[in-house]
Amino acid sequence: MINAVWQFIQSHLFRKNNVSIKIKTPEQIEGIRASSKLAAATLKYIEPFVKPGVTTLELDTLIEKFVRDNGALPATKGYKGYKHASCISPNDVVCHGVPNATVLQDGDIVNIDVTTILNGFYGDTCKMYYVGTPRDYAQKLVDTTKECLRLGMAECNPGAHLGNVGYAIAEHAHKHGYSVVYEFCGHGVGIKFHEEPDVPHIADKNTGPVLKAGMIFTIEPMINAGKARCKIDRKDGWTARTIDGRLSAQFEHTVLITETGCEALTDVYGDF
Ligand code: MF3
Ligand code: CO
Ligand code: CO
Repeated sequence: MINAVWQFIQSHLFRKNNVSIKIKTPEQIEGIRASSKLAAATLKYIEPFVKPGVTTLELDTLIEKFVRDNGALPATKGYKGYKHASCISPNDVVCHGVPNATVLQDGDIVNIDVTTILNGFYGDTCKMYYVGTPRDYAQKLVDTTKECLRLGMAECNPGAHLGNVGYAIAEHAHKHGYSVVYEFCGHGVGIKFHEEPDVPHIADKNTGPVLKAGMIFTIEPMINAGKARCKIDRKDGWTARTIDGRLSAQFEHTVLITETGCEALTDVYGDF
């Protein structure tokens, strides 16, 4: 059943006509590199504030100030009506968690996703944080999700099919008994927030567009402890949760295809 669903989804993603993936110029790459570095610095900056007792809205306020103080804009603010500088997604929230009065508790896991616009260029990254001391099962999910991103990046070579990224991610997640979210994808990024191509995190080998040096896109696997399906919060219209209430984890890098492989432009601190 699940197999049929994701095969349907990914075959449609990759059957899109006129997928035109922009090759970035050296000047654009430098601009996107600087923005990506600031997005990464923002995730580093917020780390000491992610403690039991803090609300996700308080964290978002600090993030917005840091981004603006560094001469950039938070890309999410005003994007399709979204009102905040970050997405903050605890526990069963898969992605697009709207910052609010939720108080983080000891043992929670939480994802923070920041996209900066610096001199018109976009950098997009997210990572997981532990609030206090994590439970063993939560730590296992987080570690495996980080490995999924690394394995996806290892498939990023010029001449390779983009589908190999999703293939490697899904193989690793399934080996650990986890499921891969297919309702949200990675995406081209840099000149706009969301560019072509879509980057599915579950796909068949040797499908999809062929990678070329100068392409820039995100890889941002969302891995669930239980079922893959998500539901959107009816009140805020954004927050996506697992349908079974079980944990979800995510890591994201903005990745540049080079002549010899790839470079994660948001991997500035080497901490994930
Ligand atoms: N940063 C998210 C991504 O990785 C997108 C957030 S869009 C928002 O693509 F509107 F929800 F903020
Ligand atoms: Co993204
Ligand atoms: Co993001």
